[in-house]
Amino acid sequence: MAATEDHSTTERPDSAYYVTTPIYYVNDRPHLGHAYTTVAGDVLTRWHRQRGERVWYLTGTDEHGQKILRTAEANGVTPQEWCDRLVEEAWKPLWQHLNIANDDFIRTTQERHTDRVQEFVQDLFDKGEIYKGGYSGPYCVGCEEYKLPGELLPGASEDEKLCPIHKRPVEWLEEENYFFRLSAYGPKLLEFYAENPDFIAPASARNEVLRFVEQGLQDLSISRSTFNWGVPLPWDEKHVLYVWVDALQNYITAAGYGADQARFEQLWPASVHLVGKDILRFHAVIWPAMLMAAGLPLPKRVVANGWLMVGGEKMSKSNLTGIAPTDLTSHFGVDAYRYYFLRAIPFGTDGSFSWEDFTARYTSELANDFGNLASRVAAMVGKYFEGSLPAATAHGEAEQAVADALVKATGLADRKIGEELDFAGGIAAVFDFIKLVNGYLTEQEPWKVAKDGSEEGQARLASILYTAAEALRATAVLLNPLMPVAAQKLWDSLGAQESLGALEAQTIATVADWGRLPAGSTVTKGDILFPRLEEKPTA
Ligand code: MSP
Repeated sequence: MAATEDHSTTERPDSAYYVTTPIYYVNDRPHLGHAYTTVAGDVLTRWHRQRGERVWYLTGTDEHGQKILRTAEANGVTPQEWCDRLVEEAWKPLWQHLNIANDDFIRTTQERHTDRVQEFVQDLFDKGEIYKGGYSGPYCVGCEEYKLPGELLPGASEDEKLCPIHKRPVEWLEEENYFFRLSAYGPKLLEFYAENPDFIAPASARNEVLRFVEQGLQDLSISRSTFNWGVPLPWDEKHVLYVWVDALQNYITAAGYGADQARFEQLWPASVHLVGKDILRFHAVIWPAMLMAAGLPLPKRVVANGWLMVGGEKMSKSNLTGIAPTDLTSHFGVDAYRYYFLRAIPFGTDGSFSWEDFTARYTSELANDFGNLASRVAAMVGKYFEGSLPAATAHGEAEQAVADALVKATGLADRKIGEELDFAGGIAAVFDFIKLVNGYLTEQEPWKVAKDGSEEGQARLASILYTAAEALRATAVLLNPLMPVAAQKLWDSLGAQESLGALEAQTIATVADWGRLPAGSTVTKGDILFPRLEEKPTA
């Protein structure tokens, strides 16, 4: 297999910062919960791109298994037709609408995936990591997972048991299956977690995985023979591969595993697998064990986000209360949507969405603090300097304080967003800086200074407005990964596109270098960044 060949003669290209989302089941349309993880990954990769790093952002769809098969049957189409329709009509358009800049989109029904998956499992079979055996147990089709009897909830009757996540009856499955020797990997996994304390984040997720593995692992049933919507096992075509074992491999098949070794080495191991906390064990236990068995390097980090909740329950298609991502973007706009969930919910914890909270943050943080600052500064440069940014000839202590605050805010945001995935903390650092600039203008009162016709007064006015415009120049760069549309509008209104070039080309490393925006830049009053909200639409 390609992974074990000697490639010492191939020159290793630069590695990239490689981020993945879970690949989503296409039994239904995307909802707020799916968009939450995908936006987070987009902001993370855009941040690293803004640093000037090579980045690769992968998302995609999980198309095999019983859940998809049953949905297709219920809709009277073949599973492939169903998947094609949903991917093209629902999933890809939503990511485009939300400005998700993914570099690739993998579908598990693509040959570039299925062919490599067959090679991967054949390799494990040849190595003796897979054997034939029997299994019976309660199975949840919603989770596509065998459950342990102890974790089930009581159902309507004595015999009925419910999945603790889906609250729907589990089914009793009895099959002759192939098994992966997962149990053999417990001690190796524990050793790996101990040597790599940052592998699983946040700490609560790490502890949960440690406790689970410490209890001892069972071998994993990795094939199904009661239906055929899946990847056939190459040595026994009566069986299809268990959908999770198929799906997890998307992270390597999309990266060129077994097909394009140079690309694979550039991307793998992934820098971050972003996952919901419900699918942590698959990513932090089963996936690393499979990779160990195949002799491949393990991903660097698995970071679990919490759940978006509705009425105290995990948001899902059945309890969405009818809110789709586009219902929110049509009211608040795409940028505000990207902002809100990452700002309002500390990444890693559960959080509830509320229309009122979104409205309050939109109005006070986006429209008032940020949007007004941008339009006031542009208006004053227009009014007092005919739209030509003046030079700061009277840079004093107050201006230095703004420049210093920018250095601090940039360092903090870079660490929190780029390294810790503390999006809320990083965004807060940028918005604290915006507040400080507003405070600076309130104190300096440029509208009063403008009335002082003296040369000294003019120099003060010029310095105040230069300082505010320069602070906005940096803000546009820092917010570009989060709110690319508003950031570009601001960039254009500062005349920076002309004087400094493309916004994407500005790096985080130089963003706090004071004085980058040249005097003489043409400042114009562009579109209002965050217009007043219309009345809340009634359902
Ligand atoms: N297909 C599997 C993943 C395979 S990855 C190799 C799957 N798909 S899913 O469509 O059911 O959900 C995937 C992910 O969507 C969740 O783990 C999570 O990242 C996100 N979310 C789904 N509902 C969510 C919330 N209510 N809140 C936050 N994220 C949620 O599982």
